[in-house]
Amino acid sequence: MAPKVTVIGTGYLGATHAAAMADLGFEVLGLDVVQEKIDMLSQGRVPMFEPGLEEVLRRNVAGFEGSSGRLRFTTSYAEAAEFGDVHFLCVNTPQRHGEYACDMSYVDSAVESLAPHLTRPALVVGKSTVPVGSAARLAARIAELAPAGDEAQLAWNPEFLREGFAVQDTMHPDRIVVGVTSEWAEELLREVYATPVAEGTPFLVTDLPTAELVKTAANAFLSTKISFINAMAEVCEAADGDVVKLAEAIGHDDRIGKKFLRAGIGFGGGCLPKDIRAFMARAGELGAAEALSFLREIDSINMRRRVHMVELTREAVGGSFLGARVAVLGATFKPDSDDVRDSPALNIAGQIHLQGGQVTVYDPKGMENARALFPTLSYAPTAQEAVRGADVVLHLTEWREFGELDPAQLAETVTHRRILDGRNTLDPQLWRKAGWTYRALGRPNA
Ligand code: UGA
Repeated sequence: MAPKVTVIGTGYLGATHAAAMADLGFEVLGLDVVQEKIDMLSQGRVPMFEPGLEEVLRRNVAGFEGSSGRLRFTTSYAEAAEFGDVHFLCVNTPQRHGEYACDMSYVDSAVESLAPHLTRPALVVGKSTVPVGSAARLAARIAELAPAGDEAQLAWNPEFLREGFAVQDTMHPDRIVVGVTSEWAEELLREVYATPVAEGTPFLVTDLPTAELVKTAANAFLSTKISFINAMAEVCEAADGDVVKLAEAIGHDDRIGKKFLRAGIGFGGGCLPKDIRAFMARAGELGAAEALSFLREIDSINMRRRVHMVELTREAVGGSFLGARVAVLGATFKPDSDDVRDSPALNIAGQIHLQGGQVTVYDPKGMENARALFPTLSYAPTAQEAVRGADVVLHLTEWREFGELDPAQLAETVTHRRILDGRNTLDPQLWRKAGWTYRALGRPNA
């Protein structure tokens, strides 16, 4: 019989994983401690914007016409333990308040709540991003708490999904990494992932610490790539070079590659910034701080981008924000997401507002979250409304609809035709032809 699966924590990661597992043919029970989330998901609604996820959910959640009925939700750990053979831990590990280290309290509490109910063979599979060493600690805790004793085990199976591509990344991952301590655990996970593996996804088996490290190392590398190109953007600005051409040219070397070399206002979101900080904190605890001291530089290059964008904006409006009207296109940390966690766009909008600018923000999907985080900014219902009367327009999240704006039409409604492209994705020629002063990070002015 196919193993039954539970998914503990139904945020971005968990909701997607639960829906995908059901779509692959498993009976799935999703658990969250927040009743409203469970109510929404049970009604086939996704609590965040993630393209394609609602369709997969509705295809599987019980109660929908034509649905497989393989997916249900609960708030009860006892029910989850009773139901599942494999329990995926998908709770989040945010940055701890006032510290670099990550907050493990959700992971810890999930294990403390589940383990005492494990009375038969079960595999708890961690997916959350955690400091290396956590898995070994949690495995010991499960052994202590579970009535099933040795028959309740822990494995670590990091997740590499990107917001905006969560469904695709979960259904067709580019690799599956499993940290295990027994053949039984490995075989069980091979069974769970049989479909993607049959489609050719590499399946890598490691020990627990390596599996945990794969995830943090991957995010550290991606952050490094972005900060590298942003450092090059700083040099380009000083030397009158063009970082977009530079990135294209170095990217042709396939040892370097073209991806993740888009210079701009830098990386944000709920993962990369907090993950590199937690990685540094953990390395410090392990006596390996020096090995990751370069990540401090990666972090500061990244944070400098935001300040630089604020300064370019100040310059564009004549040296002072007082009385200046600034239109901000984009609030989310990247397009195709409604996530504004540590969003460079919203951070820049906030800094300008706090320094006296009159900021009006528009974002296709992130308005509600942005308003909740930054209620004192002004929000407009469309891009056209946001730019009306603006002294300068900032393009801070590269939503497709911003690339399709007509600069000639917008030119009629602004006070001054000035645009700063914080993402290097607009077409400079198009904007300049329509009479705009177009400026981008790391590119020549004309
Ligand atoms: C990131 C990783 O890409 C995923 O592999 C990982 O699973 C996930 O974190 C996680 O740890 O959960 P995500 O946060 O969804 O995924 O977003 P990314 O697509 O990585 O973008 C992160 C930030 O980097 C965004 O603010 C984006 O605008 C910025 N970025 C990205 C650049 O500034 N330049 C680039 O060339 C690429």
